[in-house]
Amino acid sequence: YTVNLDASDISKGTYEHYMLKEIDEQPNVMRKISQNYIKSDGTLNVEQDLLDELKKADRLYIVAAGTSYHAGLVGKNIFEKIADIPVDVELGSEFGYHMPKLSKHPFFIFLSQSGETADSRQVLVKVNEMNLPSLTMTNVPNSTLSREATFTMELLAGPEIAVASTKAYTAQIAVESVLAKALGDEKNLEVAKDFNLKKQLALAANGIQQIVDEKATIKKLTADYLTDQTDAFYIGRGIDYALSLEAALKLKEISYIHAEGFAAGELKHGTIALIEKNTPVIAYINDGVGASHTRGNIQEVEARGAHVLVIASQKYAEKGDQIIIPEIDELISPIISVVPAQLIAYYASLARGNDVDKPRNLAKSVTVE
Ligand code: G6P
Repeated sequence: YTVNLDASDISKGTYEHYMLKEIDEQPNVMRKISQNYIKSDGTLNVEQDLLDELKKADRLYIVAAGTSYHAGLVGKNIFEKIADIPVDVELGSEFGYHMPKLSKHPFFIFLSQSGETADSRQVLVKVNEMNLPSLTMTNVPNSTLSREATFTMELLAGPEIAVASTKAYTAQIAVESVLAKALGDEKNLEVAKDFNLKKQLALAANGIQQIVDEKATIKKLTADYLTDQTDAFYIGRGIDYALSLEAALKLKEISYIHAEGFAAGELKHGTIALIEKNTPVIAYINDGVGASHTRGNIQEVEARGAHVLVIASQKYAEKGDQIIIPEIDELISPIISVVPAQLIAYYASLARGNDVDKPRNLAKSVTVE
């Protein structure tokens, strides 16, 4: 397949690495998604056929791999809250061969930056054999998953060249919220009407910008907390748990530091045995319901010597927290709060002398199962 690229899309310009360029592009990606999906009268630019099909569904199955799977975990919460529909999020490599009992009227959403991931595609082949409806959300509109699904929504992130995915993840969460809002509006749900997507995407763009403007601080924190370490833990609850998985993956992929994303409350049920003096623990506090309990978990690990870095939303921040996440609706807060983790991974990789854009053993798109 072919993709039309502008020279500016695929050139690094003044950047040393594609990854940093792509991190910096995220505010613009948010604006582009807003401009393309929200019409001037405030209604959304989503195919009516797609909404009609979704209205018949009793459950969404989001199928993906890697970072896209993590964007699906964030999306589950958004669809369930804004569009009032239950969601399962599945790994393509597992789901295709160990398919659970499906609901009566399933609808499949394939999340894939490249649109070429074989693990996800083999599920789509089966979905098509069963004559079930599907949508692919992808950055590459003519990709295999896009051609073979019933519907396509574009991520509009522009070409992503660094192997470690950044702007495709934040674009996926934004486009999931477009679809959730469109479906919720279609169902006349109050909660969807109250969700001001245009404002939220503007907050997302500004919030990401504020974080990337603090690069120097994040670079320093990375050196203080992570660069020389062998292991690290990201913890959080609810939306922050989903985010912790992505934050840990980013660090593993390019810094080669062993990292785990953990539900903050689950750490004490075993894994806390690994906490030693100076073990880095990065705690996320954007989830209101979980905030006070996560504070308790921070004390538990600090008591065992952990070196704790807190990334908290403005609303729940306390004195001493190192990174503050600007205002945004909690549901889509990972769009902003993932950015410090992207930058931490970047600076750790850089400091350790790794090939940031082409980490060992990894490929941008994996077309074998
Ligand atoms: C590869 C990449 C990951 C990516 C995953 C899914 O393993 O290295 O960064 O998240 O594939 O890719 P997709 O294109 O389907 O989103």
